[in-house]
Amino acid sequence: MVVREPAQGSASTQLPHQGADCPADAGAPATFGQLLRAHRMQRGLSLAQFAGRVHFNRGHISKVETDKRTPSVSFAEACDRVLNVGYTFTTIASALEATTRQQQGWVQPAQLPATKRNFVGRRDCLSRLNSRLQDHAQSLAVPVAVINGPPGVGKTALAVQWAHQAVSDGHFADGQLFVNLEGPELGTAAAPFDVLEDLLRAVGVPTERIPEDLGQRAATFRSYLHGREILLVLDNAADAQQIYHLLPGSPGCAVVVTSRSRLPGLLSRVDAVTLPLTELCRPEAATLIRAMIGDVRADADPAAVTVLAERCGHLPLAMVLAAEHIVSQQHRSADTLATELKTEHARLNLAEGDVVLRTTFDTSYKALDEQSARMFRLLGLLPGQLIDAAATASTAGFSQDEALRLLDSLASAHLIRRQDERHYFMHDLLRAYAADLARQLDGEPERAQPMRLAADPVSALDSPALSSLIA
Ligand SMILES: Nc1ncnc2c1ncn2[C@@H]1O[C@H](COP(=O)(O)OP(=O)(O)OP(=O)(O)O)[C@@H](O)[C@H]1O
Ligand SMILES: [Mg+2]
Repeated sequence: MVVREPAQGSASTQLPHQGADCPADAGAPATFGQLLRAHRMQRGLSLAQFAGRVHFNRGHISKVETDKRTPSVSFAEACDRVLNVGYTFTTIASALEATTRQQQGWVQPAQLPATKRNFVGRRDCLSRLNSRLQDHAQSLAVPVAVINGPPGVGKTALAVQWAHQAVSDGHFADGQLFVNLEGPELGTAAAPFDVLEDLLRAVGVPTERIPEDLGQRAATFRSYLHGREILLVLDNAADAQQIYHLLPGSPGCAVVVTSRSRLPGLLSRVDAVTLPLTELCRPEAATLIRAMIGDVRADADPAAVTVLAERCGHLPLAMVLAAEHIVSQQHRSADTLATELKTEHARLNLAEGDVVLRTTFDTSYKALDEQSARMFRLLGLLPGQLIDAAATASTAGFSQDEALRLLDSLASAHLIRRQDERHYFMHDLLRAYAADLARQLDGEPERAQPMRLAADPVSALDSPALSSLIA
């Protein structure tokens, strides 16, 4: 790791702040490590004191100073900041990295999909993702953030928006990888073996050097990422198992996972922070629709925009489909569409192109085991958004424990969400979808059934749909 004399006229390896501030014995051809040690000693800083200031541990610094470890650019930036030497170390580290990349045939991936101009809200989540990213210099663990929530709530949009922001702020300079893991159904989800092949190709590994064994593929991937600042976005994970093999090992990297599942088991193996997403709040929801249909049409009837957002349950996917509908059909106003969306059937059939709201829900439903699916359909027949676990157990003829187990499995799939020890919440659109499934699969319930069930659960059990569900 010798720092060579900069080539004549080349700016990439020049050391702009060597001069008056540079220690006398750190003369020109030096290694990064020697130069660092000289500057540190000149300021009278012990290894421990320096470690405390740059937020890297002593072992790491000692290895860099003795040329046993290649410094990352983020480490060099911290050295520059603490030693107040301009871009001295950053310049050298960047030049070293560029050389290494050239030697290894490293291809810098830039796989992030485009973000939308009209992204709204999610400030808390964006700042939590930022602080998770900024913390990473202080830890040896790879920072992992998991964004989870119901179908269409905006998990991917948030991950992509944050990733673009992070890149434009100068993070992850070695590249960004983005993979669709094709959850939530395990049967159709992408296999880690195949995903690793794509990832290895994306960073420039020739096909003939990609191992045939899953563990070796994962190890090769970690080796390629070692010492690099890479962002890996794992979109749409089916379960925790699917992502273990894909995780980088070295702390310069960071991982964002999105999933409809809570990914049970993940936190026992990975040091991850979880960000559960819910629908947008009312003003953000109106802003999203306004941004899509334009100020002129929104200002023509702001109240209709609010009603439309409500009919969509403030769920981003539903609102985007509704807004696209208005934009693509000049004669449609927010008011006419809001009126059309009075019926649950119309809301579930919101569609644009090949995206249909109901079909998006289907993939989550199909991932459920039989009993959870049955419980889900039953919940569609109960009135209101709030689900009382004890009342549901007695209605369905389950023991409390069994009912709680099934409700928890639905909460884990984000088809309902837990409010407190005894209560769960079900989004209106998902409830409409569950009721629709119950009608299709379990028989036609009487129109007044939900009301009767609320008033008198026992005598209400004579409806075909309900009695078939609790049989
Ligand atoms: N905060 C937001 N601002 C603007 N548009 C958004 C926002 N969140 C989501 N959207 C839009 O809503 C639609 C659905 O979002 P997205 O695909 O991210 O949902 P998801 O939770 O990832 O869905 P799935 O569970 O199917 O993967 C997309 O068109 C997306 O661009
Ligand atoms: Mg998504």
